[in-house]
Amino acid sequence: MAESKTKCIGILTSGGDCPGLNAAIRGVCKAAIGSYGIKVVGFLDGFRGLVENRTVALDDRTVSGILTQGGTILGTARDKPHKMLMGGKKMDMTQAAVDNIAKHNIDCLVCLGGGGTQKNAYHLHTEGGLDVLTLPKTIDNDVAGTDITFGFDTAMQIATDAIDRLHTTATSHHRIIVCEIMGHNSGWLALGAGIAGGADVILIPEIPYDLKSVAAHLDKRRLSGKRFSIIAVAEGAISRQEAKALASGKKDKKDEKSEVVVEQDANGQPYHLVQEPKASQIARQLQQLTGTEARVTSLGHVQRGGSPSPRDRLVSSLLGTAAAHALAKGDYNNMIAIRGNGTELVPLKEVAGKKKTVPEDHSWITSAQLLGTCMGI
Ligand code: F6P
Repeated sequence: MAESKTKCIGILTSGGDCPGLNAAIRGVCKAAIGSYGIKVVGFLDGFRGLVENRTVALDDRTVSGILTQGGTILGTARDKPHKMLMGGKKMDMTQAAVDNIAKHNIDCLVCLGGGGTQKNAYHLHTEGGLDVLTLPKTIDNDVAGTDITFGFDTAMQIATDAIDRLHTTATSHHRIIVCEIMGHNSGWLALGAGIAGGADVILIPEIPYDLKSVAAHLDKRRLSGKRFSIIAVAEGAISRQEAKALASGKKDKKDEKSEVVVEQDANGQPYHLVQEPKASQIARQLQQLTGTEARVTSLGHVQRGGSPSPRDRLVSSLLGTAAAHALAKGDYNNMIAIRGNGTELVPLKEVAGKKKTVPEDHSWITSAQLLGTCMGI
């Protein structure tokens, strides 16, 4: 057994689940327990389980057989320790988290999560004085400081497979199909899957779109004999008008994904406000502009489910074992990042509160454009 400065750790998964979480838990535990003799306490349901002291003991047997399983054996939630809904009221539960860590004699808390989790873990360090270590997970790939997050590759595979399947039905019916892809306010997933699946149009939040340009592109395709089109839309994509309104503060960020449509009763009186999903809005407007029948597919949580891809299993295992190594050395308050083919420690203060969106000059955008893909402009 190798020497270890850390004797006991807590581990939790927080935020939206994704494939690869169990592989990462397994990586941390197997290496921490097996190679360094570190005791591991699992907290259930993210930061809520930490605050409520709901735990499970993790050992070699508990983490055996979970490498290929989707989701997280620890459960997850979107709670923040410093703004947690308790009995209908938002409360700062930082002290409860600190007390529970002390009860278990935990030296360092390992948090597996996306951008929000990095921020929450950093808060526990700065405000609660806890030592923490984080791993970057999310299908959105939007965590700053790392080349890639685990979960992204599997989600991209699922979205690409969906685009492949949409091609055959769109071709047969000579239709436009708008495929809505997750990613929150970043376009990595839609862009990656759009390129890999050969989408004709890719709309991402980083490049506000103009539907007239999109319609002109679709018309050009039709005139060249291509009677179908696939449009990959990131759920956070916004039009140029919406981008302007956002910049001038006239529109709320939470309104980005949908538009309010007023339905009318038989007398023409408005009676119902419906939030029209962004992809439906785009399909409806493109059908009007091009005269081609349009359909919508929203991939939703299918993108987060199921077994992780081999790449995600590898990335999760690399991150998990690198975390155990850092714990043994006492290198706390960092995020374990993927850099090239390996891992590196990034100080958590450089990651917390930051987001990695797609830079406008990114090679994926250049490549899509060289392929003749319309990026909405
Ligand atoms: O962050 C992962 C993600 O899947 C985003 O792509 C999406 O916007 C969000 O979570 C959905 O969250 P929920 O599962 O809470 O509906």
